[in-house]
Amino acid sequence: MKVIVVKNYDEMSKKAAEIFIEQLKNKPNSILGLATGGSPVGTYKELIKAYNDGQISFKDVQTYNLDEYCGIDINHPQSYYYFMHDNLFNHVDIKEENVHIPSARGENIAKQCEDYNNALHSVEIDIQLLGIGSNGHIAFNEPGTSFEQETFIVELTDKTRQDNKRFFNSIDEVPTHAMTMGIKNIMQAKSIVMLISGASKKETVEKLLKGPITESFPASILHNHQDVTVIIDEEAYQNMK
Ligand code: PGA
Repeated sequence: MKVIVVKNYDEMSKKAAEIFIEQLKNKPNSILGLATGGSPVGTYKELIKAYNDGQISFKDVQTYNLDEYCGIDINHPQSYYYFMHDNLFNHVDIKEENVHIPSARGENIAKQCEDYNNALHSVEIDIQLLGIGSNGHIAFNEPGTSFEQETFIVELTDKTRQDNKRFFNSIDEVPTHAMTMGIKNIMQAKSIVMLISGASKKETVEKLLKGPITESFPASILHNHQDVTVIIDEEAYQNMK
């Protein structure tokens, strides 16, 4: 696991974008694994800048997102479909048919889950962007999830629903379930870039870098991956000094 410590969120975003820009220059038809949440927003802004400067194109790029809430309309501002279009896809030349986001709406969600997992089996993600929850979760794989887990429907914990309540009008609107890539799917990416920023993640960083590999801290499995870069800002790194 390669650790890069940077000054702040902006530096983290620039560093991560550099890695993605390099990837797209070397392989214009890359398959990217993408994430939602606060951590990647700045990276997406940098990628849009690089696109506008003519440094990179997304015209041959394919993307696979980590997760999506169940039962939420794609036009809902809190759907991850909406998030990805608003923060990246609407601003670059990606083809909609090359965008893959778990779909967990309407009837037969189990079938949609199986289809997404099969789609993941048919490709090899070149580079996966990841955030981390303060409890070590990656995507919606909460502590206790098997390292062998593939794409599944997860019931969100009360804590996660409470954490995400701020984005909705009330707790009743927060979805109860989500579809998420499993840890095994995430580990199959050729390379992984994880972003960690802010003082609220300082204990998370300590556990990730010093702790044992255990299912009670899902991100710890990344120590077993051969190509992981973790970009951490100084506030998040403070307990390591
Ligand atoms: P964040 O979320 O990027 O908004 O901190 C990370 C996560 O919960 O995976």
